[in-house]
Amino acid sequence: MAARRAELRAKIGAIFPAPQAIVWEIGCGHGHFLERYAAEFPQRLCLGVDLASERITRALRKSERGKLLNCHFIRADALEFLHALPKGVTLQEIWVLFPDPWPKKRHHKNRILQSDFFAALASWAPTGARLYFRTDSIDYFKAVEALLPSLITWQVAEAGEPWPLEHETVFQARAESYQSLILVRTPHRAKSAEITAPEVPPLEDSRSPA
Ligand SMILES: C[S@@+](CC[C@H](N)C(=O)[O-])C[C@H]1O[C@@H](n2cnc3c(N)ncnc32)[C@H](O)[C@@H]1O
Repeated sequence: MAARRAELRAKIGAIFPAPQAIVWEIGCGHGHFLERYAAEFPQRLCLGVDLASERITRALRKSERGKLLNCHFIRADALEFLHALPKGVTLQEIWVLFPDPWPKKRHHKNRILQSDFFAALASWAPTGARLYFRTDSIDYFKAVEALLPSLITWQVAEAGEPWPLEHETVFQARAESYQSLILVRTPHRAKSAEITAPEVPPLEDSRSPA
């Protein structure tokens, strides 16, 4: 694991030679959304991660074809990526679009958006950073809403705050309906307990919800 983290750190360091704020997409799939976002906001540095190497390969091909210098993709587990971030890199926006819903109760622990993960994110996100979450799983959406009161480092954005960019993802196209949530990083310091992220799962080629 140490070697993999060192390799990941080196890859990230090559993309961010100097400290900067980034737009990060977790579970970017084939990169449809982030590519479009990077084209719309050329001054923002965008990076997508996904566990599935085949998806990252396709995403990279697309951003090369589009000659998008501000759009990068890395195959990585989200939490491992966080821990490999060079000092000074901050998360200005975090996008979580149609994350694996893990519908069975005994698999809920595999969902990416959990208290510990929000806490870990808070350590890298400055005050005012945004987290954009969209899902077609009502159960997942309600679970995230239910844990919000216990999070001091994230709060729901004011009603009516616009979604910065609408661009249908692969999973959005398949969804009958979906719900969206914008969270804002509060000025509260991330507590030391919050910085301790949960165990990093092994990096697999893909993890499918059972
Ligand atoms: C349901 S797909 C959604 C893909 C894309 N966001 C969309 O809306 O079309 C979820 C994606 O998250 C990726 N994923 C799951 N757990 C992850 C993790 N811990 N770190 C990075 N990517 C992850 C999966 O490989 C998969 O590509």
